[in-house]
Amino acid sequence: MCGIFGSVANSVEYSTIKQGLKNLAYRGYDSAGIAVATNNGVMIERTEGHPKFLPDLDLRGTVAIGHNRWATHSPPTKDNSHPYTSNDNKISLVHNGIIENYTEVRRFLEEKGFTFYSQTDTEVLPNLIQFYLSRGDDLQAAMRHTAKHVEGAFGVIFIHADYPNQMNLMKLGSPMYVGRADDAVYVCSDAYSFPEEVKTFSSIDDSKILIIRKDSVDVQDLNGTKLTLIFEEKNVSADTYCLGKHEHYMQKEIHEQFDYVVSALAGRIRDAEIKLGGLEDCVESFAQSKQIIFTGCGSAHNAALVGSLAMEEVGRLMCRQMPAGELKYTDLLVDDKTWLVTVSQSGETADVIGCIKNMKNKGAKVLGVVNTPNSTIYQMTDCGIHIRAGKEVSVASTKAVTNQMLAMLLLAYKIGLENGCSYRDYKDFLSEVQKLPYFINRVIAQEEKIKDICGHYKDSKTAFVIGRNVLEFIAKEIALKVKEISYIHAEGYSGSELKHGPLALIDDKILNVCLLDKNFYPEKTISNIEEIRARGGKVILITNYTKHEIENKIYDRLISVETGSNKYITAMVFNIVGQLLSYHLALHNGRDVDLPRNLAKSVTVE
Ligand code: AGP
Repeated sequence: MCGIFGSVANSVEYSTIKQGLKNLAYRGYDSAGIAVATNNGVMIERTEGHPKFLPDLDLRGTVAIGHNRWATHSPPTKDNSHPYTSNDNKISLVHNGIIENYTEVRRFLEEKGFTFYSQTDTEVLPNLIQFYLSRGDDLQAAMRHTAKHVEGAFGVIFIHADYPNQMNLMKLGSPMYVGRADDAVYVCSDAYSFPEEVKTFSSIDDSKILIIRKDSVDVQDLNGTKLTLIFEEKNVSADTYCLGKHEHYMQKEIHEQFDYVVSALAGRIRDAEIKLGGLEDCVESFAQSKQIIFTGCGSAHNAALVGSLAMEEVGRLMCRQMPAGELKYTDLLVDDKTWLVTVSQSGETADVIGCIKNMKNKGAKVLGVVNTPNSTIYQMTDCGIHIRAGKEVSVASTKAVTNQMLAMLLLAYKIGLENGCSYRDYKDFLSEVQKLPYFINRVIAQEEKIKDICGHYKDSKTAFVIGRNVLEFIAKEIALKVKEISYIHAEGYSGSELKHGPLALIDDKILNVCLLDKNFYPEKTISNIEEIRARGGKVILITNYTKHEIENKIYDRLISVETGSNKYITAMVFNIVGQLLSYHLALHNGRDVDLPRNLAKSVTVE
């Protein structure tokens, strides 16, 4: 959601903060702002829209903070953008998260004579700090009292004009990282967006107060107890923010899937054994569980649906699934024989975090399928599988979804071998999964053709994506991608459900993307496609039949891809076709592919 970036040094350039905000824009933005403590006082710049619209200024100071806002409590106007200032103009503050009791706090402050210039929840924060300072608190005590007074989740940094050589940080729930370079200290909302010169970083735990100077970081908890930060090596590939030959990060991330699948498999299949290092201590308890609940949000939830089916069909464990935002408020029967599998790319999704807390309270154990080591979700889980998809910059999740499914398939077959899946199926899977990078590259090689097909259907107002069994979940994922970045209304259905309602909508204006696996009851899906054709529906067929194996009367356009016989791996390959379809449909419609409207990369509010 929002992005925070700040620095303390002998001389902090305004342009460094602006670049930091541009790097963080993938998390979501609709306005941006920067404050710099200079010799002439604190200078503030704000803009509506992308941080690139902030003016280019030759300005430097001793401490500077910046913020990309993704509106929750009020419209995305320049006035509502951060930094916010206190009534005495001494505090300039940026905030990521939500203050849930802000109406009450605002009333409290208004009674004390404070005035407000925005409708945001954030504005109470600088004023509450000012209030506690005016009561005689020192700065750290004022921060502690403020953090205890407000309810919600927040990551905050601020500059105080009386302390121009330090940045002040409060953290409860929203991700914050401190990074150290030779002559500067940085704060950032994620560990990937630090500048090159940052060599080590630390993830800040909840309920902490930090005073950050260029050569020291003082940490304390909300009771004032002093603590020490542990820093670790930053290990981010230099080309994360480099598009290279690609037009967009989404395209780059789709193309990178060959490499990242290779990386996710590295060392994990040895002597016909699946090795998942992060599970060694818990795999036995997992294999004996009474039920497994799979959860996640959006695309991660779609991947969880695939994982759940595989765990039941191959792993032979009772599974169910629910989106995290629903699961959190649903009173399922859960006990200490329940395992929760949480799937998340960012590791910071608020709904998943809430769900983990709730399930843990009921006694469940948690296995994380995560892409971001040290993220909040990573830290909350009992054990996990790192999906090794590398940094995703584009809002639409692509390579992470592939690797999430891959990680859960490895897990399902590992458990399956113990629980009765046939050794032959197991061995077939092992040999086929190692061909996945090859299958992926064969899909990417068809990009021009897919682009051309999309040109013919770019004006569609509605798209149905249909598939059966595991392909129903891929249909949902493709439909989500299509709507997310091309803004074309799209729905993913099971082919078997078509005649129970959606068929009423089919006519020659609706685009139908049909997923047909020749190894899984193909005649059933073909009947569904014929039902669509009989009503004039246009069909793009994605299949592993070759052109010569399938009658051309059932499609308008054919995308034939190579797969083996494992239906889960076939599903992953079809999904990559869907990623390219949605990417090119969006491009043909002139959309901002990497930063679709109303969306954020990391959804850190409920
Ligand atoms: C994916 O394309 C979406 N932008 C979105 O559904 C995303 O998958 C979801 O918000 C979950 O994010 P997470 O994996 O970081 O938890």
